[in-house]
Amino acid sequence: MQIDDTKKLRAYRGHIVSPQRGGELKDFRDGILIVDENGVIVFVGEWSEFEKQNKPLKDIQHFGDRLILPGLIDMHLHLPQVAVTGKSGEHLLKWLERFVFPSEARCADPDYALRISNWFFDELARNGTTLGVVFATIHKQATDIAFEVAAQKGARAIIGKVMMNANSPPALTEKLEDSLNGSAELCDKWHGYDDGRLMYAFTPRFAVSSTSELMSKCGELWHSKPGSYLHTHLAESQEEIDFVMERFPKCRSYADVYHQHGLLARNNIMAHSIHLDEDDVKVLKSTDSSLAHCPSSNFFLKSGIFPYRKIESSGIRFGIGSDVAAGPQMSLFCVMKDANYIQPDNWISPVELLYRATLGGAQALGLDHRIGSLEAGKEADFIIVDPSNRTGIIDDILSQPTEEILSALVFLGDDRVVESTFVRGKEIYSRQKTPQLSHSV
Ligand code: GUN
Ligand code: ZN
Repeated sequence: MQIDDTKKLRAYRGHIVSPQRGGELKDFRDGILIVDENGVIVFVGEWSEFEKQNKPLKDIQHFGDRLILPGLIDMHLHLPQVAVTGKSGEHLLKWLERFVFPSEARCADPDYALRISNWFFDELARNGTTLGVVFATIHKQATDIAFEVAAQKGARAIIGKVMMNANSPPALTEKLEDSLNGSAELCDKWHGYDDGRLMYAFTPRFAVSSTSELMSKCGELWHSKPGSYLHTHLAESQEEIDFVMERFPKCRSYADVYHQHGLLARNNIMAHSIHLDEDDVKVLKSTDSSLAHCPSSNFFLKSGIFPYRKIESSGIRFGIGSDVAAGPQMSLFCVMKDANYIQPDNWISPVELLYRATLGGAQALGLDHRIGSLEAGKEADFIIVDPSNRTGIIDDILSQPTEEILSALVFLGDDRVVESTFVRGKEIYSRQKTPQLSHSV
């Protein structure tokens, strides 16, 4: 293929690995990734093939045998909760009350909201996450600040103002009208910003903290805003489910609560979705719903085990999420490892896990025509990975077969292996240029 060298192009040479549909990998040991001035990939392939057919390129960054991977997609995490990672010892409902709600209430203060948003998006880039699907808090201003910070930092994100109008502490209880109007205004302001780099998700927290009216009106609002998302939690813990069934006795199950309120449809994200029966799986599939599997969180809160193979064979689209702070680490390498460890009887291979953290997530979000893998025509969201920054990984790992490199990354990787992060061709994080990040709010 001949490249049009009249355009301003940047090229990245290294070991390119990118998952494809059907479990295959694109694997170019000495590969070249060429990106145009709009951040769109114009070529991916072997360097030797490219060199034979094209004039020399001026602007090439050489990464040697380091990896160039698609950026990681975190399908579910909470921005304000970066301040309460690692606080364990309770199941979901008690943990929310004790640690999470007090810290979220602090986002009423816009200065705090700005500090925590800066911290959050720095962390996201540092972990190699190029798309985060993010719960903010109930505060409209804090959510607006989160969008503003993401816009400035070049992050890609789907963000939503949390909606809560029942069974919540007074500081986190909204009036129905405020919840709906605030969400609609933020969606109008931000959904589609910078050609879709930022998008909006209507975000009723869960059925526990939503009235029936909030859920049905939220559903109507969501359906009236083309391309927007609906993001919530589903069937995470048994205690939560018991409470939901007490509140909505006419519904057959937790999934049915959302179904009855118009929240099951394409472009939703149902975080967790652990405790599902056959009919729930059928309805999630027939409504084209998407799931975010959050294994680290499920370990941390002892919530249960996601029925991975059952969901996979049903054909429901799903990706993985860190669920910070119930997931204690933002690194999706750690989450991939936990997705394997938490299954008592299934082996989920490193190749498959990388697919879930990239292309699988993009498919679940209906964005696989734009991101999720390194292919000509897609936007250049990618990370440079160097395992040598992480002790415990054997020195010559990068000269080993690709599947073994991926295995080392999945079982030993974390934020330290990420050398730099690019969204739409723009470097938003470089380990070398960012020696120390402040972690105080
Ligand atoms: N369900 C409702 N809110 C939350 C939350 O903040 N974290 C988790 N893990 N589950 C929830
Ligand atoms: Zn969550």
